[in-house]
Amino acid sequence: MVAAGEPIVEMRNIVKRFGSVEALSGVSMKVRKGEVLGLLGDNGAGKSTLVKTLAGVHDPDEGEIFVKGQLVSPWTPLAARNAGIETVFQDRALAPQHSIVTNIFMGREITNTFGLIRVQRQVAEANRLMREIGFTSKVFNPDSTVGHLSGGERQGVAIARALYNNADVIVLDEPTTSLSLTETQKVFRFVEAVKESGRTVVFIGHNIYHVYDIADRFFVIDRGREAFEGPKAAFRGADHLIEMMHQLAETGSADVSHLQATT
Ligand SMILES: Nc1ncnc2c1ncn2[C@@H]1O[C@H](COP(=O)(O)OP(=O)(O)OP(=O)(O)O)[C@@H](O)[C@H]1O
Ligand SMILES: [Mg+2]
Repeated sequence: MVAAGEPIVEMRNIVKRFGSVEALSGVSMKVRKGEVLGLLGDNGAGKSTLVKTLAGVHDPDEGEIFVKGQLVSPWTPLAARNAGIETVFQDRALAPQHSIVTNIFMGREITNTFGLIRVQRQVAEANRLMREIGFTSKVFNPDSTVGHLSGGERQGVAIARALYNNADVIVLDEPTTSLSLTETQKVFRFVEAVKESGRTVVFIGHNIYHVYDIADRFFVIDRGREAFEGPKAAFRGADHLIEMMHQLAETGSADVSHLQATT
């Protein structure tokens, strides 16, 4: 068991190249149990590449990944899943024409010994997962078509799908991009519920105000390198974090003197 606040996953010196492009140039990131970690950085900074590596989708060219202090090698999608890491990708694939329950279990259906899908079990499990993340709509049930849900609710389905399998760490890559404020608040409630259940969330977002509200700690990357990290308490507010990120974009570095003692 990992105690709250202790590293549950640690990526060390991760390098990832796509041909001549070095998307990650030696990034080391710890994810601590029970936290919401806000992963920030400009377009193309390497956020998605980092979480795809964490998910085992990308094989890093260099670097190591430790789970609960143990080196896991080789690091594969199965290793990531076994480590309890589930990712909702930016280019996520929910099937809008299908029901909530079909989407949650797609590709990993609950079957009986004859290989037939146990429909009632899946509906019951979908209900449980939706309740767990605080899906309160009375209008929708597991048989509702995903295409009829709002953007925030669709993210809820994607999160419920990630929770199935008892994930310890849920990674959300820009879950609120293109959502209205009301829909964003729904996603935040889902994230809060996931956190309250003792799980860990890695949250990527463009809107720093949004990420500031939801996250306990921030990790900022810039052109494939770690720029700075720190707990929320180390910042004077969202504007301070934004100011640091502007400074970073303009000069390539930010004043991190107030963060030295916190990481
Ligand atoms: N599969 C790939 N093949 C080639 N280059 C890639 C691939 N995936 C990412 N890259 C490149 O790696 C760099 C980092 O991309 P990445 O998608 O990780 O950035 P990001 O921080 O998630 O950006 P955004 O905020 O726009 O989602 C970019 O230069 C991108 O073009
Ligand atoms: Mg991305």
